[in-house]
Amino acid sequence: MVNAKTRLYGLIGNPVEHSLSPIIHNALFKRYNINAVYLAFEVDDLDSAVKGIKALKISGLNITMPYKERILEFLDEFSEEAGAIGSVNTVVNRAGELIGYNTDAVGVLKALNHFTEVKDRRILILGAGGAGKAIAHALSRLAKVVVLNRTERKAKELEKFGLKGEKLSRESLEYYLSWADILINATSIGMNEDKSLIPKELLRKNMTVFDIIYSPLETRLLRDARKIGCLTVDGLWMLIYQGAESFRLWTGIEPDVGFMRKVALEALRDENQGI
Ligand code: ATR
Repeated sequence: MVNAKTRLYGLIGNPVEHSLSPIIHNALFKRYNINAVYLAFEVDDLDSAVKGIKALKISGLNITMPYKERILEFLDEFSEEAGAIGSVNTVVNRAGELIGYNTDAVGVLKALNHFTEVKDRRILILGAGGAGKAIAHALSRLAKVVVLNRTERKAKELEKFGLKGEKLSRESLEYYLSWADILINATSIGMNEDKSLIPKELLRKNMTVFDIIYSPLETRLLRDARKIGCLTVDGLWMLIYQGAESFRLWTGIEPDVGFMRKVALEALRDENQGI
């Protein structure tokens, strides 16, 4: 029941109307008997929104596009990892102090670990945008990482994490796909379109292929990979594990990821049916 003691959590971004986070987090609050609600806030003015968080004592927030980088200047503190990546997707209100974290990094690691060993593996990441950067940072601490990006400069910038960054091309793809054990697509190619950056013939069946896109759940890349026998991991796992980490930071509870996946899949199915 919502009453005078109910705590408020939410999402700040623009747009936010298609986010699965309200459905997932409200289901978790119910499951763990926590008197809280989670709402999506479409924000035009970040400065005023942050003042509102403090004034209204909102307990915690997720931050999404286009504010993940800009939010840093409004925070009282942020984790070392969020600072290194330059991006925050989770904020905890600790007695009036806003503390920022990046749970995409932990999210990708836990999602991959759910299926395969990550330590010392050879990982090829496509994309050096916001998501690619967080993933590269998390994985380069444990594994051998190469990042290929259309804009070479952005791949080179990530070399400060102790990885190798190169321009994305047919030649670099061919070379590093024959080297990698794990392939991660962190570009937007394949989102709501039947396209893949990887020619099918370059995939090998002993690879693990992870696409961070979850719409569609099985992208062209994952379909090609499944057909040749690769282990495939969809982007909903990443969304779930980063959400689980946000929930843990807010409540101290490690939520049941199987339950979160079930809730998210039902929501996706309803959305596809236009409900
Ligand atoms: P996100 O926060 O989701 O990572 P982003 O920061 O805009 O979004 O990054 C999008 C990624 O997809 C980038 O790596 C981008 O490459 P550039 O850095 O060269 O822009 C990549 N991307 C987008 N369209 C692409 C395309 N047609 N071919 C190759 N890479 C593409």
